[in-house]
Amino acid sequence: MNQPVATLSRLRSVELRTSAASESADFYENVWGLSVVERGSEGAWLRGTGDEHHVLQLTSAEQNGLGRITFAVRTPAEVDEAARRLGARGVPIVAGPGPTGEIAAGYGVSFVDPEGRVIQLLADAYAVTTMHRSDAVPVGVTHVVLNTVDIDAAVAFYTDVLGMRVSDWSEHQMAFLRCNSDHHSIAFNQAEWTAINHVAYEMPSVDHFMRGIGRLRHHGVVPMWGPGRHGPGDNTFSYFADPAGLVCEYTSGIAQVEEDRWLCRVWRRVPELSDTWGTAGPPSAEVRSHMAGVPDDGPFAHRADLRVSADR
Ligand SMILES: [Fe+2]
Repeated sequence: MNQPVATLSRLRSVELRTSAASESADFYENVWGLSVVERGSEGAWLRGTGDEHHVLQLTSAEQNGLGRITFAVRTPAEVDEAARRLGARGVPIVAGPGPTGEIAAGYGVSFVDPEGRVIQLLADAYAVTTMHRSDAVPVGVTHVVLNTVDIDAAVAFYTDVLGMRVSDWSEHQMAFLRCNSDHHSIAFNQAEWTAINHVAYEMPSVDHFMRGIGRLRHHGVVPMWGPGRHGPGDNTFSYFADPAGLVCEYTSGIAQVEEDRWLCRVWRRVPELSDTWGTAGPPSAEVRSHMAGVPDDGPFAHRADLRVSADR
């Protein structure tokens, strides 16, 4: 079997294409608790308190969708090697390998997955110092959940090509994938169409998580689902809709995986496992609809030459 193209260190940032870029930038800065790094007419870049240059990029678009997911790899040499291996597997490369020329600089390669999502592998991005804030605001992004039309094919690509590991299944409906000791950085949800389901932001503790929910309540923003605690991953959850209707989550306390001891499990989708505190109840039709999103063939949907599935 082919080796994975690279060793992913962690999730760095997520770009969202959003139908309400300006309102959403205001929301993520003034309500959600991120800090604007740069903002222009086409979009905005925002950071958390952690050491990533930015964790969220908002790009103005007619329709909501995923722009790009960026993972860290350790060195430019690994980026070059990843590009070579991606090419050998027939995975379409859309940028790089090379200096990105983007706001966080760095050396990267971007490619398209079998459902049209753009993934970037990035090394040597600009350093920033961590922020000390007394209010309860996110450290950064900790996971992204993606709706897929073929969960087995999605899991196969992200495990075989990107070397991620399956931490747990929620029946045959969701798969939780890790690239480091966090239980999941990516999860796939079997759905009717490809779309982004939600982006989760890490709060440093359950206390920060609850105080963050409280701050949102003072802004008149209440959870669509939560607060609660999931069985798979053991993380707390509280889901909200941003001004464009995209779903964002505050979470804390993700399970840490000890690589050589962890056993993947299949969680039945029953209330006591989906909502271990018993505080959230089942998700409403409203939150399900927001999480389903709109069909998203990706930013390169018009490029028929890029819709080549990987030869693994
Ligand atoms: Fe989540």
